Amino acid sequence: MTTPSSGRGAWGSRLGFVLAAAGSAIGLGNVWRFPTMAGKSGGAAFVLIYLLCVLFIGLPVLLAELTVGRRTQKNPVGAFERLAPETGWRWVGALGVLTGVVILSYYSVVAGWTIGYIVETLSGTFNNIQSPDAVTRAFTGLIGNPVVALALHALFMALTMFVVLGGVQGGIERWTKILMPVLFLILILLVIRSVTLDGAEKGLSFYLKPDFSQVTGTTFLNAMGQAFFSLSLGMGAMITYGSYLSRRDDLVSSAVWVSLADTLIAVLAGFAIFPALFTIPGLEPTEGAGLVFLVLPNIFDKIPGGLFFGAGFFLLLAIAALTSSISLLEVVVAYFIDEKGWTRRRAVIVLGSVAFLLGVPSALGNGAVAALSRLPVVNQSFLDFMDMLFGNFSLTIGALLLSLFVGWRWGTGRALEEIRLSNPETWFGRLWALLIRFLCPLAIGAILVNLILETI
Ligand code: TRP
Repeated sequence: MTTPSSGRGAWGSRLGFVLAAAGSAIGLGNVWRFPTMAGKSGGAAFVLIYLLCVLFIGLPVLLAELTVGRRTQKNPVGAFERLAPETGWRWVGALGVLTGVVILSYYSVVAGWTIGYIVETLSGTFNNIQSPDAVTRAFTGLIGNPVVALALHALFMALTMFVVLGGVQGGIERWTKILMPVLFLILILLVIRSVTLDGAEKGLSFYLKPDFSQVTGTTFLNAMGQAFFSLSLGMGAMITYGSYLSRRDDLVSSAVWVSLADTLIAVLAGFAIFPALFTIPGLEPTEGAGLVFLVLPNIFDKIPGGLFFGAGFFLLLAIAALTSSISLLEVVVAYFIDEKGWTRRRAVIVLGSVAFLLGVPSALGNGAVAALSRLPVVNQSFLDFMDMLFGNFSLTIGALLLSLFVGWRWGTGRALEEIRLSNPETWFGRLWALLIRFLCPLAIGAILVNLILETI
């Protein structure tokens, strides 16, 4: 527990921190993005590669970010500046700040759909679904209506700004404590219903029996990008959260618990989605960004009290998204407070508005405006394109540079000194140093090079 003498704020307790960091990690990345990516990338083989990425790359990078944050007590740009003054490294932090704004912009759009689904569920749209087309029509109607899509995006962004205005402890910590366990319980219920549906075996085998013949360089990039996205890595969010930690707070077990909780939720979301998916005629795993929104109402409809559980689930998912989006905004806000001397209020209002405006094309590109719904050349919606550029590439490049920085520039020796302030020297620390110096940069680099070779 740091005394927040600097006025930057600090966590109230270590449990509060772990919950807040888990709150940042657990969000749409687990319940929406993970099944979407797994479906697009061939199922079980992707899942396996994903798990390896979390264990051998994500977890070490998470520990590295927390260590840099706790050491410097700074936002990402300030942190690099402190450890390597007047070098180009500060631009890695700057890339993180930019990435944060862009991810927030479309994250808020999808979170807005979740809010819309609370209302749709309560109003009975998903009651007694006669044919799955009804869900598709409701979904495309919701996301394709420009007024509704923009209003929901605005509402979610406003909520994010409201919480971040309250500051670290008052705002972020309080939300996460009670609500995450409830989300977890409803997810378990969903899994039970999904795997007991007639014909669930097909989905289970898609999710669990790897078929490596379809694996390409893109599969690896998607899996790794997803690991970074889900753990909130590669843009300094965990540097920022780590900066509110004190020297006594246990870094290693925080990193392990956050990764475990995050991965568990993602894997469970897959168990909820895929068995049900294959029982719905006309739906393919390659559906894309709409996948979970098209599948979930069908499962709730087959659960007694589905209206109640469905609305509750989407409400909790919106809150999980909120505890993530606040970490995206907090990075950017912390930068403008620390480095530019802005007040918290000014930073929140200006940057929240910027992220809202950047999200407008993502909100309109799902049917409302045809040109944004399928961009020329890349053949994707604006939202999918931003997600690929920033959610996959930018985070991956950020994580590569961070592991090079900690491994070779700042040095794992100094990092281990910082870790030792709260954790005794163990094999884990030494293994971590090896992974950060060698495996992480080599594996991330290899995946990027391979992808470039594949596309040219
Ligand atoms: N990890 C969050 C999720 O899974 C999203 C998120 C929050 C994030 N902060 C981030 C992603 C920072 C990348 C970087 O929903």
